[in-house]
Amino acid sequence: MKIVEVSPRDGLQNETATVPTAAKVAFVDALSSSGVSEIEVSAFVSPRKVPQLGDAAEVFQRIRRENQVTYSALVPNQHGLDRAFAAGVDKVSVFTAASETFNRRNINTSIAGSLKRLQPVVKRALQAGIPVRGYLSTAFWCAFEGKIAPEAAVAVAERLVGIGVDEVSISDTIGKATPSEVARLLDRLLPKIPADRIAVHFHDTYGRGVVNTLTSWEYGIRIFDASVGGIGGCPFAPGATGNVATEAVVAALVGKGAAVPVDIEKLNRASRILDAFLRDDRRSQPDKDSQACAVCEHFTGNGCCQRGVAS
Ligand code: HMG
Ligand code: MG
Repeated sequence: MKIVEVSPRDGLQNETATVPTAAKVAFVDALSSSGVSEIEVSAFVSPRKVPQLGDAAEVFQRIRRENQVTYSALVPNQHGLDRAFAAGVDKVSVFTAASETFNRRNINTSIAGSLKRLQPVVKRALQAGIPVRGYLSTAFWCAFEGKIAPEAAVAVAERLVGIGVDEVSISDTIGKATPSEVARLLDRLLPKIPADRIAVHFHDTYGRGVVNTLTSWEYGIRIFDASVGGIGGCPFAPGATGNVATEAVVAALVGKGAAVPVDIEKLNRASRILDAFLRDDRRSQPDKDSQACAVCEHFTGNGCCQRGVAS
């Protein structure tokens, strides 16, 4: 089970407020101790396009790294990879989409153009021993083209694997997928790409992020992207709201009996670091009453933590 915390990248890229670099560093450091496996720290994209993440190099330089956490970044091209290498990333995420129109709006090229651009990026990263994730945006719906056929999404996912990515993150960019649409896509995808190379990335526009996560879990998916406080969204996908909240994903998976070694109270503490900077309509607020142990007020995901007292 891997929880990939995308809030420092997907969350902060979509905020109108500029969060100071020092606060981002404190936020990532707080997330590092929460038990999440991977943190997408920032993006080495054009700072003109996404000014909120223009300090990516400085954030990487200043964070305190924990051995058990993978620190990754989004890269769109060779220049982004150069910057990511210089920052000492553990992993990179490249990105394309199942929708031609969204791709053009997001990265100024077609699907084919993006794969051509990304192929040498993936090759160089792998040669350097850096694992690569490939995001497949608009896997279900597109803000411009509407419903995306599952076959079209599967075809692009296979092309991502074809250029060498280790893992594909199936992304519901505008948060519109239903559980049956998730099931339809996974029915077609799993015979082609094994579950252990698939992540899911749900935005929560219509409140279906958690149920879509659980549907994917029932299909054997074990890599889940999420964002504390449910912040997130793509500036180039009108109508998209935040990612599904990490605390909600962890609680839901634990409720299903999954072992998720993530401490919700520590997630909440990290989330509160952003309180002073973000608009106050974040989708998910820390739930102070949530399943915390009555004795130590600490929640690890499986009842109580250190003192063994059930919540
Ligand atoms: P372009 O304009 O086609 O590229 O942009 P270009 O090569 O012609 O470069 C234009 C300018 O950008 C030049 O600067 C380059 O130096 C600069 P200028 O001469 O104008 O001053 N540039 C860069 N600067 C820094 N780092 C770089 C870089 N590359 C070029 N790596 C490009 C193409 C992809 C670069 C651009 O469109 C871009 O950066 N777009 C941002 C896309 C983005 O970040 N989108 C949000 C993330 S994706 C997402 O949220 C979805 C996801 O969460 C999954 C889901 O939910 O679906 C992952
Ligand atoms: Mg996203």
